[in-house]
Amino acid sequence: MARVTPDQLRQMKARGERIPMLTAYDYPTAQILDAAGLPILLVGDSMGMVVLGYPTTLPVTVDDIIRHAQAVVRGTEHALIVADLPFGAFQVSTEETMRAAVRIMKEAQPQAVKLEGGRRVAASVRALTEAGIPVMGHVGLTPQSVNVTGGFRVQGKTEQAARILLDDVAALEDAGAFAVVLELVPAELSRLITERTSIPTIGIGAGPYCDGEVQVVHDILGLFPDFTPRHTRHFGELGAAMRQAAESYVAEVRDRSFPTAAQSAKIDAAVIAALRADDADNDADNDADNDADDTADSRDSGDATSAAVDAQPHNGAQAKGRAADQSASQAEPQIEPEADGYAPPKTKKG
Ligand code: KIV
Repeated sequence: MARVTPDQLRQMKARGERIPMLTAYDYPTAQILDAAGLPILLVGDSMGMVVLGYPTTLPVTVDDIIRHAQAVVRGTEHALIVADLPFGAFQVSTEETMRAAVRIMKEAQPQAVKLEGGRRVAASVRALTEAGIPVMGHVGLTPQSVNVTGGFRVQGKTEQAARILLDDVAALEDAGAFAVVLELVPAELSRLITERTSIPTIGIGAGPYCDGEVQVVHDILGLFPDFTPRHTRHFGELGAAMRQAAESYVAEVRDRSFPTAAQSAKIDAAVIAALRADDADNDADNDADNDADDTADSRDSGDATSAAVDAQPHNGAQAKGRAADQSASQAEPQIEPEADGYAPPKTKKG
């Protein structure tokens, strides 16, 4: 199945069809979200907080975005993949923005990039789109500017701030952006912006009137324990499920109920018998050597030392213990030879 295109997203807006979007940062999550029918996924710099554990998105690098976008692209066939331009990649100049975007497009092969800002970045958006790189804009709360905004706060509440937002979206549309994220914008202002622009608006903390909605996947799955933003909701409790699964694993490893024969490989009993025969030979040799040493020691330092040596469990006793374990495990069901080894499944893409 072909990937969703920016044009199809515009058609969805025209039809009044809502556009669900989530972030994704890794191969298995991308596979699941693609199968769930997400038309668009974002490899967001939010990975800095929810995957890498930073307090903000600022430390995320172009290399981080490339590595994670590669995994997401490999895990998907249908969704349009958007890769974020991280802090530092587009602030300096249009040339540097172009260099970072070209690297991401070449090395990770997403279908689009996203960058934060309105009129300030319009020239770069124009240059990228003219160079054949679809761009998604991002206005309202722009987390890369958290040190200026002084926190993750709703934007555009005054008339002046609201006018700036409207102008920013118009500038992005004019520069060729194919869609725009509205983050932490009052619902009625998002409605007005959505009505006035021809490109799809994708809200996050921006109310119900945008053309689409984006959320950080860890937030909706209950996978981010540090805090739950007000604009999100848990659609699952995967964090709790993971913890429960990990606790079961710990308990079963401790009480030896995992692994069992079902997770084990077989070996011909004759091979083990031959190896055990070596142990028995060695034990016999060691016992003979020890007896000779004991005789010499007791001559040198008295009987107390040789009594202590005899009190240690020696190899023969350990071998007998292992033999008993082995015969017990042979009574368990054995797995088929064909199931031996591990062959990674063939991936959809090389
Ligand atoms: O990085 C990200 O996840 C984002 C979304 C919040 C839109 O930019």
